[in-house]
This record gives sequence, C-alpha cells and structure tokens, in this order.
Amino acid sequence: MSSPAKAYRASILHSLGDPAVVGIEQSYEYFEDGILLVEDGRVVKVGHAADLLDKLKGIEIVEYHDALITPGFIDTHIHYPQTGMIASYGEQLLDWLNTYTFPTEQQFADKAHAADVAGIFLKELLRNGTTTALVFGSVHKQSVDAFFEASEALNLRMIAGKVLMDRNAPDYLTDTAESGYADSKELIKRWHGKGRLHYAVTPRFAPTSTPDQLELAGKLYHEFPDLYMHTHLSENLKEIDWVKALFPERTGYLDVYDHYKLIGARSVFAHGVHLCDDECKRLGETGSAVAFCPTSNLFLGSGLFNLNKLEQHGVRVGLGTDVGAGTSFSQLQSLNEAYKVMQLQGNKLDPFKSLYLATLGSANALYLDDKIGNFASGKDADFIVLDYKATPLIDYRMQQAKSLEEKLFALTILGDDRAVKETFAAGQSVHRRD
Ligand code: GUN
Ligand code: ZN
Repeated sequence: MSSPAKAYRASILHSLGDPAVVGIEQSYEYFEDGILLVEDGRVVKVGHAADLLDKLKGIEIVEYHDALITPGFIDTHIHYPQTGMIASYGEQLLDWLNTYTFPTEQQFADKAHAADVAGIFLKELLRNGTTTALVFGSVHKQSVDAFFEASEALNLRMIAGKVLMDRNAPDYLTDTAESGYADSKELIKRWHGKGRLHYAVTPRFAPTSTPDQLELAGKLYHEFPDLYMHTHLSENLKEIDWVKALFPERTGYLDVYDHYKLIGARSVFAHGVHLCDDECKRLGETGSAVAFCPTSNLFLGSGLFNLNKLEQHGVRVGLGTDVGAGTSFSQLQSLNEAYKVMQLQGNKLDPFKSLYLATLGSANALYLDDKIGNFASGKDADFIVLDYKATPLIDYRMQQAKSLEEKLFALTILGDDRAVKETFAAGQSVHRRD
C-alpha cells in the first residue's frame, strides 16, 4: 500500500553502532532540529532541518516541540498471555509458574479470550513505544493466530510462536511432541513471512519438553528459512539443577539445546544469568542471542546479567521485558533497572549504550538490523516521539540538563509510558497519548 511522503520535525536521535565496538561518539547521530522523511512506510532520509527543509516543497511537515524522535523500541522477550498476571507475588520461579502462570495460560484455549488479551497487550506495547517484540504465546495454536491477526491489522513487525510443552506441566496445558510439531508447522505456513510477521519455534524451557519434543523442535527450526527459536536459559539455580537431573547425559543447560540443534542464528535465550565461559563462547560462535530482562526480579535474580562477559564472547544481546515475570512494558524502565544491575556489579551503562540496547542492538540480536533499529534509508518507519514535558518532574529535570547525554539518561530513569507522546509503525500513527 503506498502512502504519500510525510516529514516529521523535532530533535532526532538514533544509534549507528554498538558503543562497545565503535566508541560512544561514533555510536549515534543527533539532529537538534531534525527532519525524518517517510514514504510508503519506510524511512527516506533523516537530517538537519536546515539542510532538508527547502527540498520538502509540497510535503506535509508535522512538528513536535520539546520532543525527541527515536526509533521504536524492540523487546526481545515477552509473554503476551501473562499480561493479566503481571505483578503477581513472586515466590520462586517454579512455584510462580505453577501458582499463577499455568492457570492464567489455560484461558488461552478460548480464541475470543486470546483475541481480547492480544489487543490489550499490543496497545500496551505501543503506549510504551515498543514497535517490535519477540513474543511467547500459550501452548494453544489459536493463541498465536489471535496474536498474529491483531498484529497484522496494525501492520506491526512482530515475532511469535506457540509454546511447546509436553511434560512437567498440568495436563490441561500440555501438547505432545507430535502435535506440538504439527501445530507449529501449520502456524509457520500460515504466518511466517506474511507482511511483517515472523515465526519462532518456542519450547518453553528444557524442563517442560521431553527429548522427543526437543528433537522435533530442532528439526522444525531448520526446516524453513529465517525461523526463530525462542526459549529460557539459566535463569535460576533451582531450574539449572532440575535440568541437570532431567538431562544427566548433557554437560550443562545450554548443551541440552545444543544437542537438539536449537542454537544458532535467530535463536534467542531469555535471561542467561548463570552462564559459564564455555557456554558464552558457544553462544557467541553460533550467532545466538541472549535477552537481558532487567525488570524480571520478582524472584530475585532473573534480572541479573553479566553484559560485559557476554559481549567479550561476541554474544548478541537484546533487551527484554519478560512481562509477566518482568514488571513493566516500558523499555525506558528496563533501562532504568539495567543501569542498576550494571552498577551493582561495579560496571557502567552509558546512556548511548542504553539507546543502542533498546533499538539497534536488539534489532541485531534478532537479525533484523537491515529492517529496523535506526533511521538508515529504506528501513521500516517505526518510530516514537518522546515528550520532554511528559510530567512536571521530567519537564523540570530537562530544564536543568546541560547535554543530550544528561537528557537521555534522565529519560531512561524517570520515563515510562507517559513519556511516549506518539508511536508510528510503518509510517502510520498507532498510538497517540493525548
Ligand atoms: N521459565 C519457564 N517459563 C517461564 C516464564 O513464563 N517466565 C519466566 N520468567 N521464566 C520461565
Ligand atoms: Zn520469560
């Protein structure tokens, strides 16, 4: 569908590369008074208003004051069926799954319920400025149909999959190795590559799949081009012990996934809190990614992360919210917590690195950096308008800020959904705050 060119004028900031690789100064581009030119859902160009304005004759220009345009945020790990149980009392991971998560996910057998929650979930993502996410469905294939139908209607770039889970879960919530494979394949044929949608083969985590199911999941992951693989890894010490007991012949947790050919390009492992050097090395050399989920600390520890160690091994790292174990849909709040997680380890998280993690870095983790993540010409026009006057406190804080770096940092610490004035997907406005 073609749409006429439109220009957006405000301060504009986007990432150009990983600060850890190119250095802070080369990692971003900033236009104090900038223009983002969009046509047919794609970025045409970005630049200084002074250079571009006289080339925009006849083109509508939308101006925002006291605002910063950035690429839409990317969430590399989230569970849409858990929207209604966010902020459930934590206990421990395995108790939390049994007490809250499984009963909640059971409701997604009903397609109408799934459609309702998919709508609420996508609205919440867009309110928070997230335009792409890697999403867990429930075990029911209709949960994924409902999610993709809602995403397609908004022309969003989304990745999702049906959970594979054939043991160590209630009977009402399990599939079988064969039915999980067949249902996933049906969904892949229906949705993978349709518009801006992608499919992820989604074993919940090693303990809830039999070796037969993992075997078929590994087969499926390699059966179609550009499929994703999405699961959890080494989030919790009790979970790790359980995996060792269930798979005594494997050398460790990652080796289970490795054995069943579930690692490689477009595989994304949530958490990765307790990884040894060999596991980091293996993730790096296979082009796998790990999702850092800093707000996921209800069961103390799932939000911890050794970013430096993973980066030293060349592992792709994305930023995830992990809702509902995570406590916010806002990637600004994820960055707030990420900063603290780094500080607790005696490390720094530069504001431009934060920007990279929430945008281009997560696009890189998902192998989508040729399509989203910054404003390079030809990329999808997925962008957000952040409001420097979002709240009285943010407004006052911004007036004290002496640099872009300071403003950006304060936005990541104080900002949340209130800071997102408008969200655009493929050039169309999909959320307007007021
Ligand atoms: N491990 C297995 N399932 C889950 C889940 O739903 N959330 C989190 N945080 N960890 C898990
Ligand atoms: Zn999760």
